[in-house]
Amino acid sequence: METLSAIDWERFQVLSPSEKAPYFGDGVREQHVILAQQFDRARLDALGALATRIRRVAKTHAGSDFLQQTLSHKRAMLFFTQPSTRTFLSFCAACEILGLKMGEVRNPSTSSEFKGESRDDSVRTFSSYFDLIIMRSEIGGLAERVAWLLSHSERTVPVINAGSGKDQHPTQALLDIYTLQRSFELQGGIDGKRIVFAGDLKRGRTVRSLSVLLTQYKDVEQCFVAPADLQIGEDIQAVLQERGISFSLRDDLRPELGSADAVYMTRVQDEWDASDGAASAFDPARYRIGKAELSCMKPDAAILHPLPRRDEISPEVDEDERAVYWRQMRNGMWIRAALIASLFGIEDEICGYVGA
Ligand code: NCD
Repeated sequence: METLSAIDWERFQVLSPSEKAPYFGDGVREQHVILAQQFDRARLDALGALATRIRRVAKTHAGSDFLQQTLSHKRAMLFFTQPSTRTFLSFCAACEILGLKMGEVRNPSTSSEFKGESRDDSVRTFSSYFDLIIMRSEIGGLAERVAWLLSHSERTVPVINAGSGKDQHPTQALLDIYTLQRSFELQGGIDGKRIVFAGDLKRGRTVRSLSVLLTQYKDVEQCFVAPADLQIGEDIQAVLQERGISFSLRDDLRPELGSADAVYMTRVQDEWDASDGAASAFDPARYRIGKAELSCMKPDAAILHPLPRRDEISPEVDEDERAVYWRQMRNGMWIRAALIASLFGIEDEICGYVGA
């Protein structure tokens, strides 16, 4: 197949996400992590197993020392020009687990971009000093542009998309899948489950990426609960239709709770209002989980949230064993460590470690 370094930007940028996905890998594994469409069921299973392996090895002092020397000769650049707490810290922690050294730019006004340097040139600069670029940007599609650009430079380093505009957040979706795998470990896994998404599904990039990953599982039903103007994008609906996935669009969460195996809550992403028109007023009570809603849910359901939350999940829900959003964050650290280990091809070294 044609490689990313062989295709010109004009031809590449007009492809659909599923057409672009194979360009970011070598047929076996990812070379860059840009889109949820890059992952099939086998890769999701393998990454989950590697994350669990890393989690177990890291439990002992000797295991943790072993992991920290695996990539101690590599450096990662965290280029985060959009606000982030969890994703930034969990990538830092993942890099530390594997011993990578880190540099960061979080504010373009402290970099040469402020002097008029183009983002393309800034990124090329990073690739001179680092072996991996992890980036979050408010600009949709920037991560794929950077991956393409570097593949056309003399130093192609892997790029990980840590959230791009309103579009994709593939590593969040991977940690959500890992959380679902772990939550449903005793219930036959993710296959056959009913997953309900609620909140701002139009601009919530985590939902968009997770919905795509869930199409890899058998007989998973997806239900999207949002006011009409914040409903899941037609592009995602088209993907679901094309793949024969059963899904429904609703505007009230409560009636959906009783049959949900997992509920994925999100906040209203009102930071986008100024650029895409303020969301119309809606009744937040229809998209919220509190004590009363909990009582309608299955005893072994899972409640997820990418966080940060506002008031869509009331704090009293935190104590309920179905609330997995705090564990979800920690899962993010393990799956991101697994992803980085895989990008550098050290899975066998980690799996071969004796002592855990
Ligand atoms: C999400 C994001 O940035 O897309 N948060 C995250 O990465 N954990 C969701 C959000 O900001 O609401």
